[in-house]
Amino acid sequence: MALIRWDITGNNDRRIEGDGVFVRHPRPGDFEAWALLRGASRAFLTPWEPAWTEDELSRAAYRRRLRRYAEDIQAGRSAPFFVFRAEDDALVGGVTLSNIRRGVAQTASLGYWAGEAHARRGYTGAAVQTVLRYAFDFLNLHRVEAATLPENAPSRALLMKLGFQQEGLAREYLRINGVWRDHVLYGRLRLDRTA
Ligand SMILES: CC(C)(COP(=O)(O)OP(=O)(O)OC[C@H]1O[C@@H](n2cnc3c(N)ncnc32)[C@H](O)[C@@H]1OP(=O)(O)O)[C@@H](O)C(=O)NCCC(=O)NCCS
Repeated sequence: MALIRWDITGNNDRRIEGDGVFVRHPRPGDFEAWALLRGASRAFLTPWEPAWTEDELSRAAYRRRLRRYAEDIQAGRSAPFFVFRAEDDALVGGVTLSNIRRGVAQTASLGYWAGEAHARRGYTGAAVQTVLRYAFDFLNLHRVEAATLPENAPSRALLMKLGFQQEGLAREYLRINGVWRDHVLYGRLRLDRTA
């Protein structure tokens, strides 16, 4: 298992190594690869995501996204990561811890996506494992939650494989592709860790 080397002085620009992948925060220079991958994967991703904006893949929207990410990282609200294949540094997807809650909760929500051409190669599973280590070992969270549409078999299988437990069904939990949709809720506790 790779060690997390993370600079707690504020330089959170480092990469965290995983099994065949590494993750790091998104940078301005990732724009072209990100827009290309997301554009080529539009039909694969949009059934499972909040509706894309008109200018979703524009450079201006990406700049706004990075500004929001920077504010959220600084405030400790979220930890967005892009996923790169270790062998050639190609961008293959993303994994984000959002809605990080401290106090008596010590919880975050997990989200993830893979570029269509890179799906089913183990990259997202490896990246989620890496981000879970970051969540539990570096952020010291107690719990990570995930929510998925009931018919999203790949996402549900991924969560079960990584030790999440199904905890319930939340009615009209998120607005996905423009529609309020029920979601299956999953959770993994720090002490659930098996990997
Ligand atoms: C869900 C998603 C992120 C999985 O990414 P991935 O890179 O293909 O996942 P991996 O290759 O790492 O697979 C890890 C595990 O997930 C499950 N899985 C992934 N794709 C699957 C599929 N098509 N059918 C069934 N199980 C699947 C399997 O358990 C797999 O382990 P295995 O290969 O040992 O069987 C990807 O399909 C995706 O981006 N889908 C569209 C967007 C989306 O659904 N996002 C999540 C919203 S909750």
